[in-house]
Amino acid sequence: MSMLSGFLRSLWRSQRRSGDPEADEFPVARQQIAKRAHARAPMAEHARILFDDIRVGEWRLPEIVARALADSDALVPPLKALHRPLASYLLVRYYLHALALQGARAECGVFQGTSASLLCHAARTVDAAHDGSGLHLIDSFEGLSAPGEQDRFSLPGAAGAPAQRSALPQGSLSAAEEYARRAVREFPGVAFHKGWIPQVFGALPAQQWSFVHIDVDHYQPTYDCLAYFQPRLVRGGVIVCDDFGAPLFPGAARAWTRYCGERDLAFAVLDTGQAVILNL
Ligand SMILES: C[S@@+](CC[C@H](N)C(=O)[O-])C[C@H]1O[C@@H](n2cnc3c(N)ncnc32)[C@H](O)[C@@H]1O
Repeated sequence: MSMLSGFLRSLWRSQRRSGDPEADEFPVARQQIAKRAHARAPMAEHARILFDDIRVGEWRLPEIVARALADSDALVPPLKALHRPLASYLLVRYYLHALALQGARAECGVFQGTSASLLCHAARTVDAAHDGSGLHLIDSFEGLSAPGEQDRFSLPGAAGAPAQRSALPQGSLSAAEEYARRAVREFPGVAFHKGWIPQVFGALPAQQWSFVHIDVDHYQPTYDCLAYFQPRLVRGGVIVCDDFGAPLFPGAARAWTRYCGERDLAFAVLDTGQAVILNL
């Protein structure tokens, strides 16, 4: 038996034991396996081994991530114990790249301000006087917009046929603007834009952008963010989508692939599930 077929057999056996034989076909079921596995694995020790020596300027990666979580009063569940630091690191690398370019920076989907705080602290590692200027935070601060057909995902049904489930309802993941303002209180130059995407884009300054983080979970706002920002991206600028690989939010990848497909745009898919357009 080859190493690969041995691995696939053991994966299949572990899925049968976990009661999710169709987990490979259904990403949500696979995520449930990881959730149960992480609940009993020493995740802090895994994270220490993997990330302790990675640095963002003078910070160790676990420290800057912990600072952003503390600033925003947020917690990381065991499922995300490895994803959060790794995805944060990759996001920061693109942000530091973009800081050297002309153009403003935006985050669409701010919630309590965890990733916004992370980006601000990272920027300060290259400019001690950085006050957040040039970063625009955009959110309804009333949670997600309504899911549509494109946001539905499949789970194994009782009779073997996939059952279609809806994503989170409108208003989920709601945090008041005050939370995010508190998270970036050390960075008074950060601009806030409260409102629904895409209407809120009408309040943005007419300018070009070097960095956009799209983290709005559902299909329609993801598509609307791309439609607004991608044509306004400077040369070398980046757009990062947080949810491309998120099992519970398939609409983000559907919007992204549709938008990029319609325009024949190249993009990378990172192993964290983030997708990135680099405008060269
Ligand atoms: C997953 S959270 C963002 C998390 C944040 N980027 C972080 O890592 O800390 C998604 C956010 O998107 C916002 N959102 C979703 N759809 C929106 C829309 N159509 N217009 C404005 N905000 C929206 C929600 O209010 C929520 O705060």
